[in-house]
Amino acid sequence: MTTASAPGKVILFGEHAVVSGTSALGGAINLRAKVTLQDLPGSILIESGDLTLRGFSLDLISGQVICAEAARATRYVSAVLKELEAADLKVRVESDFPSASGLGSSAAIVVATAAALNAHLGLCLSLKEIATLSHRIERSVQQGLGSPMDTALATFGGYLQVTREVQPIDLPPLDLAVGCTRMPHDTRAEVSKVQTLRKRYPELVDPIFQAIGAISKRSVPLIREHRLEEVGELMNINHGLLEALGVGTRELCELVYAARGAGGAWGAKITGAGGGGCVIALPGTQGEAALITSLRQARGSAFLVRTGCEGLRLEEGS
Ligand code: MEV
Repeated sequence: MTTASAPGKVILFGEHAVVSGTSALGGAINLRAKVTLQDLPGSILIESGDLTLRGFSLDLISGQVICAEAARATRYVSAVLKELEAADLKVRVESDFPSASGLGSSAAIVVATAAALNAHLGLCLSLKEIATLSHRIERSVQQGLGSPMDTALATFGGYLQVTREVQPIDLPPLDLAVGCTRMPHDTRAEVSKVQTLRKRYPELVDPIFQAIGAISKRSVPLIREHRLEEVGELMNINHGLLEALGVGTRELCELVYAARGAGGAWGAKITGAGGGGCVIALPGTQGEAALITSLRQARGSAFLVRTGCEGLRLEEGS
């Protein structure tokens, strides 16, 4: 039996602008996807440990229950099996991620599957090769969409600064609250909406992208020196600019304002593509418990994460 696990991520600063080449900063978080392989001669079986049947549907003709999350995990796992020409296996996927959160769960599943196969089949792929292969596979399942940030963070962990290239950067951990709207979002649609706006108003959107890139760069020394009040201020400015790009929603804004108000956060912003999904908030004067309560009162699901966490890991006994 071989088990590998890989983390999800949050984008701290720079989403959307990074698509046009300015700087973004992301951190691996302590939510993980775990993939276990067992020999199963003559068969390939993919099993999901998600027993909550989040987003399930029932096919009335075949009587089959289809769980959207499990179906999504299966698509990514089978793409990796195909790429590495693996068979005669039972693959079990377990994950800590809330559904449709935009916290990098698909990249974590792809990386954990590739790493488990690497160990199980003795392929001797390096971490860099696993990251590159995983990015190619994730992009092909998502029909060409996806920056290398998610798969690189799932592989190497820690923090990454992304422009056109991905660079590891040494920063201390940050404790953040995540508030999820529970609204599904479509990253492709949000990216294309922003890029259309840029084509229509380049003289307005390009300076917004430049400002977002400058915020990402400016945040690095502040995080390093633990100047959280200022990091929070940058989160608020970045959120305002994402709003200007049109990727905010009422639900996301309610979470952001609840976090900054009753939650006492130093700052709060959308993380990822927007249009649904999650916000991140930096606990401030009122502490973590008040922040979580305020996000839940604003009808979000809320939990704490730590950034800068460990990347890919082969689990004990593998
Ligand atoms: C989505 O998580 C982040 C975006 O910047 C898209 C991307 O970088 O691929 C919106």
